[in-house]
Amino acid sequence: MTSKLNSLERDARVMRLYEQLVEIEQRLIPTGLHVFGRAAELQEKADLLRMVASFDRPEQGARALPKLVAEALRVENYEELLQDSSPSEAKEVIDATVNRAVQKFCEHGVDAAAGWLNSEAGVDREKSLPTFLILTKVAEQLDSNTELDSLLRSLRGEYIKPGPGADIVQNPMVLPTGRNTHAVNPYSVPSQLAFARARQTATALLNRCLEEQGHYPRAMALVLWGLDNIKTQGDGVAQALWLLGVRPVRDALNRATEIEVIPLEELQRPRIDVVMTVSGIFRDLFAPTMALLDKAVRRVAVLDEPFAMNYLRRNVQEKIAAEAWSFDNAVTRVFSNAPGNYGSNVNFMVMDSQWETEETLGDLFVTRKCFAYTRDTRGRSVEGREARHLMDDALSRVEATYQNIDSFEIGITDVDHYFEYLGGVSKAVETRSKSRPAIYLSDSLSPQVKIRSLQETVRLETRTKTLNPKWYEGMLKHGFRGVAEIENHVANTFGWSATADAVDPWIYTEISKTFLLDPIMFQRLLELNPHSLRSLVKRLLEANERGYWNPDEALLETLRESLDNLEHQPEPIA
Ligand code: BEZ
Ligand code: MG
Repeated sequence: MTSKLNSLERDARVMRLYEQLVEIEQRLIPTGLHVFGRAAELQEKADLLRMVASFDRPEQGARALPKLVAEALRVENYEELLQDSSPSEAKEVIDATVNRAVQKFCEHGVDAAAGWLNSEAGVDREKSLPTFLILTKVAEQLDSNTELDSLLRSLRGEYIKPGPGADIVQNPMVLPTGRNTHAVNPYSVPSQLAFARARQTATALLNRCLEEQGHYPRAMALVLWGLDNIKTQGDGVAQALWLLGVRPVRDALNRATEIEVIPLEELQRPRIDVVMTVSGIFRDLFAPTMALLDKAVRRVAVLDEPFAMNYLRRNVQEKIAAEAWSFDNAVTRVFSNAPGNYGSNVNFMVMDSQWETEETLGDLFVTRKCFAYTRDTRGRSVEGREARHLMDDALSRVEATYQNIDSFEIGITDVDHYFEYLGGVSKAVETRSKSRPAIYLSDSLSPQVKIRSLQETVRLETRTKTLNPKWYEGMLKHGFRGVAEIENHVANTFGWSATADAVDPWIYTEISKTFLLDPIMFQRLLELNPHSLRSLVKRLLEANERGYWNPDEALLETLRESLDNLEHQPEPIA
């Protein structure tokens, strides 16, 4: 297979392999489930602390350790190096130094770590101390757990002080757990930090589209979730605003309620038509933000700009000219569930296997999500009016779909909601535009911006979780529940076949080999949880029946036999 490669091609291929291995190695994964009332058993505590130490925390006067090391070593282009995935000696030295410093911290404490960093890399102790003090607090709180105590106190009617809701890496102030979470002030979203971060993400996303399709997408569909935008202070919202080419402006009360158009000279690219599919939770929590997004769309649609630089205006004007649509209908872009309703139900339909063709899944998504939230030209508020033909039309022009991931704990195969939303909207686009959209994800998990295709993300999740012994052995420590988690991952992976045909066949083959063809593993799963094991085998056979995977007949026969045995398995005696 490789004999025809010349040396340049071979080097490029080795480099890509290297980048992928580094990406897999550096990926933080949960290695077990949280047990209520029990302190986290984090073998990888050092990895988590290293991630916590990789971000500037200006509100606590703390700087990111990699940046401090880069400065002390006089690496000038560190920010650029960070965004570049190819290997560099400077980056390796910085990473190794930070790793050793965090290791020293775990073994010997703050003074030893700050002292080591000073003697080894020349980082002033005063500069690194605030970061190590944050790590001390995080480490202490990870080692203790007051959840049971808080539960008892709340049952006694006592007051529990609330804390912020976020990912530990994004905001270590979420610790200790066992508190009520307070959300965000929706008027503060997007934060300045989120808006600055979103510029890089939106640029990287559009560059990737340009590279792969040869042009910017005429329209994009974005999925916006409530909890994610709480955790990131509005990363997803800010990305939508950047794609449209506007920035939020704060009013006299410091509320983000106004829009300022970013001039095309500054933007240096066309404004994208953005269709927002918004969760019910987002709709409930972020009413002012829904209004801000709608306002942004309406403002951009009336800018006096050439169609080639303002795709939204072009799409709206074409609709008005060709089909005599009203401006209000042609410009509707913010969709969610009907008031009081949540979810797309695509996940339930997939899980129950009760569907004939994939098209049904996209149709169900639109049925659930086709309710418009806007303020019309006369200033009247529209709060969830059914607008199916408007959504069908808006989706028919979409060329790329996208969602931001906010937490390392929950990825696209951990829960069924990602395929329910991003998969659901992508399938709806595919049938309405008669072409499969490019599907992208990015995450707010690491300091560098990384856009991945859906296929790449499925591979990464599979390699770092489902097929990773560190992950599944961590799950299996939880016995019955652990097997259910493995089965959930396989079912959620299957969800990406159903909605987006985004799963490589080798993934199903390797899952079969790891969990079913290995007799020792099969026996372990059987003893722990025969119900989930049976569902897992059935799901793999369904993947074959629906044409997502065509393994050799011997493998299929083994699966069928296993299923037959499992169906006749006597109920285990407790
Ligand atoms: C949300 O935060 O909006 C959300 C959470 C879980 C599933 C779907 C949406
Ligand atoms: Mg489930």
